[in-house]
Amino acid sequence: MRLHEKLAAGFALAMLSATTLAVNAQTKPVPQLGKNSIKEVIAAMTLQEKCTLLVGAGKAPRPKQAAGLKAGMSNGYVAPPPMIGKTEVKVDGAAGNTNAIPRLGIPAMVLSDGPAGVRISPHRKGDSTHTYYATAFPVGTLLASTWDPKVVESVGRAFGNEVKEYGIDILLAPGVNIHRNPLNGRNFEYYSEDPLIAGKMAAALINGVQSNGVGTSIKHFAANNQETDRNFVNSQISQRALRELYLKNFRIAITESNPWTVMSSYNRLNGAYTAERHDLITTVLRDEWKFKGFVMTDWGGGYSDVAEENAGNDLIMPGRPDQIEDLMNAVQHDSLSMNILDENVAHILNIILKSPSFKKYAYSNKPDLKAHAEVSRKAATEGMILLKNDAQTLPIAKNVKSIAAFGNASYFTIAGGTGSGDVNKAYVISVAQGLSKASYITDPVLEATYTSFVKDTTAKLWVTARKEHHWPGPVPEMMVNEDKIADEAEHADLALITIGRNAGEGSDRDLATNYTLTPNEQQQIKKIADSFHAKGKKVVIVLNIGGVIDMNGWKDNADAILLAWQPGEEAGNAIADILSGKVDPSGKLATTFPAKYEDVPSAKNFPGEPANKPEHVVYQEGIYVGYRYYDTYKVKPMYEFGYGLSYTHFIISNLKLSSPVFIGALTATITVKNTGSVAGKEVVQVYISAPTKTIDKPAQELKAFGKTRLLQPGESQNLTFKINAADLASFHTDKSEWITDAGNYILKAGASSRDIRQTANFSVSKTIMVEKDHNVLKPEVAIDEYKGK
Ligand code: BGC
Repeated sequence: MRLHEKLAAGFALAMLSATTLAVNAQTKPVPQLGKNSIKEVIAAMTLQEKCTLLVGAGKAPRPKQAAGLKAGMSNGYVAPPPMIGKTEVKVDGAAGNTNAIPRLGIPAMVLSDGPAGVRISPHRKGDSTHTYYATAFPVGTLLASTWDPKVVESVGRAFGNEVKEYGIDILLAPGVNIHRNPLNGRNFEYYSEDPLIAGKMAAALINGVQSNGVGTSIKHFAANNQETDRNFVNSQISQRALRELYLKNFRIAITESNPWTVMSSYNRLNGAYTAERHDLITTVLRDEWKFKGFVMTDWGGGYSDVAEENAGNDLIMPGRPDQIEDLMNAVQHDSLSMNILDENVAHILNIILKSPSFKKYAYSNKPDLKAHAEVSRKAATEGMILLKNDAQTLPIAKNVKSIAAFGNASYFTIAGGTGSGDVNKAYVISVAQGLSKASYITDPVLEATYTSFVKDTTAKLWVTARKEHHWPGPVPEMMVNEDKIADEAEHADLALITIGRNAGEGSDRDLATNYTLTPNEQQQIKKIADSFHAKGKKVVIVLNIGGVIDMNGWKDNADAILLAWQPGEEAGNAIADILSGKVDPSGKLATTFPAKYEDVPSAKNFPGEPANKPEHVVYQEGIYVGYRYYDTYKVKPMYEFGYGLSYTHFIISNLKLSSPVFIGALTATITVKNTGSVAGKEVVQVYISAPTKTIDKPAQELKAFGKTRLLQPGESQNLTFKINAADLASFHTDKSEWITDAGNYILKAGASSRDIRQTANFSVSKTIMVEKDHNVLKPEVAIDEYKGK
C-alpha cells in the first residue's frame, strides 16, 4: 500500500471508530423516566441524586438539639421551623415540593394541603390580575355525618379538579384519625370515632380526588389523636386496639381506594416514631395491606432520617439540604443499604410517572369555582344534623318573616378550622346572609353592632398578640343588652342564636372555654330564650362548631338545635336550606356527644403524663372508644352515635337475612318507608352483637350502613347489606389472628345506635380464622386496659 493509501486507510479507520463511538454514545443516552424502565433510571442515578429524591425541596436550617439532653425525646427535642408548609417554587402557598432531577427526566411534584379544600395562596407577587382562591368544602366531621360515600366522592371529584387545575400533584388529605377524645384540636379534619365510617368516608374522598389523575396522602399514620406535644408524645396502645380501631380506619380506606401516598404521623407509637417503625410502614402497610404507593413524613416528623428510610418511609418532608447529606453518609457508612435506598426511590418514581407534572399537564389555574360551590353547599346540607326539634319548630313556620340573629357566628360564620386544614376561600356566606338570601328579614342594626364589635375586638386582640408574640385568642361572645333583646322579642318572629367554636393544628381545645359554653354565652341564651318565649316565639340554636361540645345548662332553652358543623364557604346558604325546609336534614352523628366530659372513656388519659408536658399517653380504654364504651358500660350519652332527626318519619321494617346460619357471607335486606309528609333520606345502620366466649367484645359494633335516595312521602326503598367473615372478626392478640367466634350473633338495624328498629339472630357454627397477622407493634409497657362488662 502506498503512503497516501495508508494515510487514507488510517483516516478511514479513524473516521470509522469515531463514528462507532458516536453511535455507541447515541445508543447509550442517559436513561429518562418514562422512556426507560424505573430500574434503568435508578441504575443511572448517582448516590446524591437518589438521596435528593428522597428528601423534599424545603430549605429550612437544621434544628438544634437542646444541650446535653437525649435526642428525639421531648426534653431534648427542638421543634423544627414552622410546620404548616409553604413553598413558592411552583404553586405559591403549597405545602411542599419534591426535588426535580432534570438530567433523568424527573420533574418536581407539588404537594398541597387539604383536607377541606386546596390550601394555596390566593394572591401572587407581580400578578394583580388573577386570584387563586379555592373552594372551602365542609370539614371532615360534617362529611362523615352525611353517612353517604357518594356525596363525599362528589366532593372529592370537585376537590381533585382544583388540585389538578392549580398545578398540584398530591393533595395532603384526607385525615382519618379516630376521634378518641373530643378535645383533639384537629377532630374537625377527621371523620369519626368509628373506623368503618372513617375508612369508608376517606376511601370515597380519595376515589373522588384521584379520579382526576392526581394523588392523595392519607394521614396521619397512625394514632395521632391529639395535638398536645404531638411531635414527641408516645401513644401507648394495645395491639388489639390498634388493629381494631387505629389501623382499621387506614386499612379500609387504603384497600378501597389505593391512595398514591400515606403520611406518617408526628407522634411516637409504643416507643418509636411512627415514621421510623419498619413494622408499621413496611410489615403492616406494605406486606399485610399491599400498599403500593410511597410514604412521606409529616412536616418535620420523626427524628432520624436514616431510621425513616430504613423503615420504608420514603420521602422526608418538607426536607432540608443537610438531610440529603445525612442519607449519603449513612449509605457510605453502611447504616443504610443501597437496596433499601433503591426500593424507596422506586416507590417515589412509580408515583411521579402518574403525576400531572410528569405528564406536563397544562393546568388552567381556573377551576370552576361556581360549580364547586354548589357541590360544597349540597354536601353541607347532607351532613347537618337536627339534634332537637320540639313541637316542630323547624322547618321555620311559613308565618315567620323576620328573624333576630344573635351570636358572633351569625355574622362571622366559621367555614372550617385553623392550621394547615384552613382554606384560602374567596368568601364565606354567613348565617345572616343565608337567611336574607332565603327571604327572611334580619335586623341591620343588630348586624352592624355585631360587625363592629367583632372587628374592633379582633384588632385589639391582634395588638396584644403581636406584643406578646402569640396568636390572638378567640373573640369573646358579644353581650347584647337587655333592652335590645326585649326589642327583638317584640318585633322579630323568631330568635336564632349561632354558637361558634374554632380550633386547629398545634393545640387541643380548652375544656372550660372551648368545649364548654362560657357563662356569658349561657346567660345570654337564657335571656334571649326567656324574652322570646314570653312572647310565644321560638328560639333556634345553630351550632357552628368543628367538634363535640358540652350541651349542659343551655340545651333546654332552645326549641330546636341544628348542628351545622363548619360547613365550608356556602355555610349560610346551606344552613338556610335546612332551616327553611328546602332540604330535609338527613345527617347523623358519626361521633358521640357525651352527657358530660368526664364520661369520655379517655378523659382520665388525655392528653397524657406528665400533665404539663406529656411524654406518653396511655390508651387505657383500649377498644372501648365512643359508642363501643357508652353502650358496653351503659353510660347514657347526650346524643348517641348515629343520632339525627328529620322533618319526616321513616319506618324501617322487614329485616331479612339470607340465612340464619352464617356460611361464608350473609346478606341482610331491609325496607325503609317515608311515612311522613315531606321528602327525605334515612340512614340505616347495621350493628352486630357478637358472642363473648373467648375474648371481651363491645356490646355492639357498626358493621354496615346505607343511606336511601330522596324518598317522597309514601315511597319505600330496600337496602341490602353484605356481611363477611372478616366483618365479624376480632383481633386475638395472643395469636395475632383475626377470629370470628362460633356462636350466636344478633344483627340490629336502626336509625341510630340506640334506636334499633329490627333485629335478627344468626349463628356461626364453627370458629373461623380469618387472617393471621404479624405479631408487631407491641406496647413496651403493660397497659391496664378496659375489658368490657
Ligand atoms: C400537618 C400536616 C400537613 C403538613 C403540611 C403538618 O403540620 O400536620 O397535616 O399536611 O403540615 O402543611
